[in-house]
Amino acid sequence: MERPARLCGLWALLLCAGGGGVAAPAETQPPVTNLSVSVENLCTVTWTWNPPEGASPNCSLKYFSHFGNKQDKKIAPETYRSKEVPLNERICLQVGSQCSTNESEKPSILVEKCISPPEGDPESAVTELQCIWYNLSYMKCSWLPGRNTNPDTNYTLYYWHSSLGKVLQCEDLYREGEHIGCSFALTKVKDSSFEQHSVQVMVKDNAGKIRPSFNIVPLTSHVKPDPPHIKNLSFQNGDLYVQWKNPQNFYSRCLSYEVEVNNSQAETHDIFYVEEAKCQNSEFEGNLEGTICFIVPGVLPDTLNTVRIRVKTNKLCYEDDKLWSNWSQAMSIGQKANPTFYITTLLIIPIIVAAAIIVLLLYLKSTGRSMTSMRSKPKKKLTL
Ligand SMILES: *[C@@H]1O[C@H](CO)[C@@H](O)[C@H](O)[C@H]1NC(C)=O
Ligand SMILES: *[C@@H]1O[C@H](CO)[C@@H](O)[C@H](O)[C@H]1NC(C)=O
Ligand SMILES: *[C@@H]1O[C@H](CO)[C@@H](O)[C@H](O)[C@H]1NC(C)=O
Ligand SMILES: *[C@@H]1O[C@H](CO)[C@@H](O)[C@H](O)[C@H]1NC(C)=O
Ligand SMILES: *[C@@H]1O[C@H](CO)[C@@H](O)[C@H](O)[C@H]1NC(C)=O
Ligand SMILES: *[C@@H]1O[C@H](CO)[C@@H](O)[C@H](O)[C@H]1NC(C)=O
Ligand SMILES: *[C@@H]1O[C@H](CO)[C@@H](O)[C@H](O)[C@H]1NC(C)=O
Ligand SMILES: *[C@@H]1O[C@H](CO)[C@@H](O)[C@H](O)[C@H]1NC(C)=O
Repeated sequence: MERPARLCGLWALLLCAGGGGVAAPAETQPPVTNLSVSVENLCTVTWTWNPPEGASPNCSLKYFSHFGNKQDKKIAPETYRSKEVPLNERICLQVGSQCSTNESEKPSILVEKCISPPEGDPESAVTELQCIWYNLSYMKCSWLPGRNTNPDTNYTLYYWHSSLGKVLQCEDLYREGEHIGCSFALTKVKDSSFEQHSVQVMVKDNAGKIRPSFNIVPLTSHVKPDPPHIKNLSFQNGDLYVQWKNPQNFYSRCLSYEVEVNNSQAETHDIFYVEEAKCQNSEFEGNLEGTICFIVPGVLPDTLNTVRIRVKTNKLCYEDDKLWSNWSQAMSIGQKANPTFYITTLLIIPIIVAAAIIVLLLYLKSTGRSMTSMRSKPKKKLTL
């Protein structure tokens, strides 16, 4: 035990301490100072700090940080960190200093700073605050009143996103049963990075009696497209060709489709899930701008077929793909099975058959009579 220590010697103590695996106070830096937190927009939370006092001059300082439960670890030279946080819950950041970006380096003692939700009774906050981006042209957010709320509470929704200079108030409030909602214009911006951003939303009341509620809506999800428009149905070589126009604002490759075919006579109801809509027939491609085509197999041509289509965003361009558009208007092709025609046929056939039988019977009877009379005549003659 004593030998290695003596070998090291006093003059090399610093060098040995590093490799010895004993506590290495010379290597851990002092903690960061002046950690503070602030909120911008509605819920862009920024933590800032100052470099530690008395750090080794040879250390090129880096900062290790993470949120509660070791989420989102980061090692970077900046003395700040930002995150969009729905401020419905308390969130804390822990920061330490170190001398490299190596994750195995032990950082200084971690300093923590938290931000708490706004004051107020949590039971008063609105619940189920959720937003849907319709047609990439307007966003509708709706919510339910909190449990501890006055029924005549007047709600206000505020929203912010990176293309706006400031937080705006939503004007278009509406009520839909239990739900209260508000809709505001939100158009797709040409800037390609726009969709990597989010919309920050906050709902509170005018009187300041309820606790504000927050939501962060990523622009790559919660998108509900407009329904498509069916352009044409046609039978070709025994197949049903369906052509439609996609909703504006969407690239075809970003959508998936569902084609519904109802056959009134067979009473079938078929749904075809279409990942990529394309007709093999080159006739349909190129000549019709923005028109999509799908061949429905196994459709009976001489009966009435009713077709509807709906679309949703897909994983190629969007993060979630749960919201279907409304169904398009229905379009029909084929012979309409006329119900009065059926009823007439059903009634007339037996009548005709019955009449025919009667006529036949009468005929047989009359011929029978004439036959007997003819037969009886010779008899008579014979008797005569
Ligand atoms: C911390 O903040 C105070 C007041 O702003 C300032 O005087 C002090 O120098 C700061 N400490 C460091 C290490 O920057
Ligand atoms: C810093 O590095 C220089 C040269 O590499 C060295 O001479 C000096 O002792 C180091 N200082 C500390 C505090 O480690
Ligand atoms: C990080 O540090 C460990 C041990 O200190 C070392 O083995 C590893 O090579 C280092 N990694 C890098 C990328 O420097
Ligand atoms: C969908 O967006 C397009 C293009 O912005 C617009 O012309 C159309 O009216 C929108 N549809 C609805 C239902 O708002
Ligand atoms: C909501 O607004 C209406 C009309 O402005 C007002 O009469 C009512 O008192 C308000 N409710 C509350 C809870 O402030
Ligand atoms: C539908 O498509 C068929 C086959 O291409 C064509 O003959 C017909 O004119 C089209 N109808 C309409 C309304 O475009
Ligand atoms: C097709 O049939 C299904 C199931 O019977 C029905 O729900 C749907 O409304 C029908 N579609 C049209 C366009 O009538
Ligand atoms: C979708 O259908 C519902 C119910 O019929 C209707 O209220 C709503 O306006 C429709 N939405 C669109 C975007 O067409």
